[in-house]
Amino acid sequence: MGKIDIDGLVRPGGREIHRDVFTDQDIFQQEMKTVFRRTWVYVGHDSQVQNKGDFYTTTIGNQPVIMVRHTDDQIQVLLNRCPHKGVKLVEDTNGSTGKFFRCPYHAWSFKTDGSPLGIPFNKGYEETGFDTSCAKKGMCKVSNVQNYRGFIFARLSDEGESFEDFFTGSLSSIDNMIDRSPEGRLEVVGKPLRYMHKCNWKMLVDNQTDTCHPMIAHESSAGTIKRVWKSVQDETLSKPMVVELVLPFMSSYDDFEKMGIRTWDNGHGHTGVSGSIHSDYSDIDGYYGQMVDAYGKDRAESIMGETRHNTCYFPNMMVKGATQTLRLFIPIAANKTIVESWIFRLVGAPDTFLKRTAMYNRIINAPTSIVGHDDLEMYERAQEGLSVDANPWVNLQRHYREDELGGEQLHPGTSEAQMRNHYVNWARYMSTEDNS
Ligand SMILES: [Fe+2]
Repeated sequence: MGKIDIDGLVRPGGREIHRDVFTDQDIFQQEMKTVFRRTWVYVGHDSQVQNKGDFYTTTIGNQPVIMVRHTDDQIQVLLNRCPHKGVKLVEDTNGSTGKFFRCPYHAWSFKTDGSPLGIPFNKGYEETGFDTSCAKKGMCKVSNVQNYRGFIFARLSDEGESFEDFFTGSLSSIDNMIDRSPEGRLEVVGKPLRYMHKCNWKMLVDNQTDTCHPMIAHESSAGTIKRVWKSVQDETLSKPMVVELVLPFMSSYDDFEKMGIRTWDNGHGHTGVSGSIHSDYSDIDGYYGQMVDAYGKDRAESIMGETRHNTCYFPNMMVKGATQTLRLFIPIAANKTIVESWIFRLVGAPDTFLKRTAMYNRIINAPTSIVGHDDLEMYERAQEGLSVDANPWVNLQRHYREDELGGEQLHPGTSEAQMRNHYVNWARYMSTEDNS
């Protein structure tokens, strides 16, 4: 692989992106070595591993990892490889390993912090230099792990920004989702909806802050629900939950424009600054009182009044506090992405919240959904259309202005500023060299 010319792929300010960024497998490999090593990537939630010895396996970029609760109750992130011959140690997605991991090949065993526990028939290593080998040290451990109010992030590289410097003010969206629980605590419910998209992972990231597509791409689904609801609606009918969740997808350009977009350093940003498509959901009986009791009136109203739409966390996560959902865009290849959509319970809040978040996930994000497939078709057609040789550029110039990025900045709601923010930072991380 020759050296990749990053400057030739992202035009200044992120206004145009070369198609190779979405289609080229060498660029994808470079992303795995840079973007997904240098940044704090979301691994999972600590409620997925409630008891000591509980584990969950996933990937950071293309690196298989195990998130596990160690005997001291801390969460560890370990590379899923036996240090002996490289065998993948844990095959299941989740479960409990007890007090140790045991390799099925030669029964080498390791404590749940990765340190070596035992090797059967441990003779024959004397004076072989084994004591100073990688194998002797045990499983490789990700040393940069942060548990932020239950959200576990890890940075593979020894180099890069600290957790706080990387996320800065963007953590406010995660805070808002958690603070919506009267107890200030979330729990993952069930398994994620997980399915393959035959497109590049960054198309999904772009889509999260693309406010000029819902009224067009979702006309067939949300538009149909709107028409049917109008035809049956009368004053005796209360709005069904599904109608309440889907109708706002048909909001106008003007509505989205007014909602605004906010960007932060290092590629994070969100739609829905002044309200969002989630602002007008019905009140849920008993919740207001619980929140006022927990936080006091002013603070409770400020938490509930903050109804951000989608918050993108660089590189590959989206959080939606108002519906307690989290989506991960897991890169598999330049043209393959697994999308996981997770839901959370607001601990201590009425069960109706869980009913609403589960319905939202089913209607919008499931393999059997009615809305998400509109997007999926657009991604896959874009992946196909980018093979046309006449024009190699994807355009992101809407509402561009100089000096729009840096620190915390606000933009009109139909701006493509957050997409540009993503690519400016993507280019920066792609240019890093990882010596760790
Ligand atoms: Fe969409």
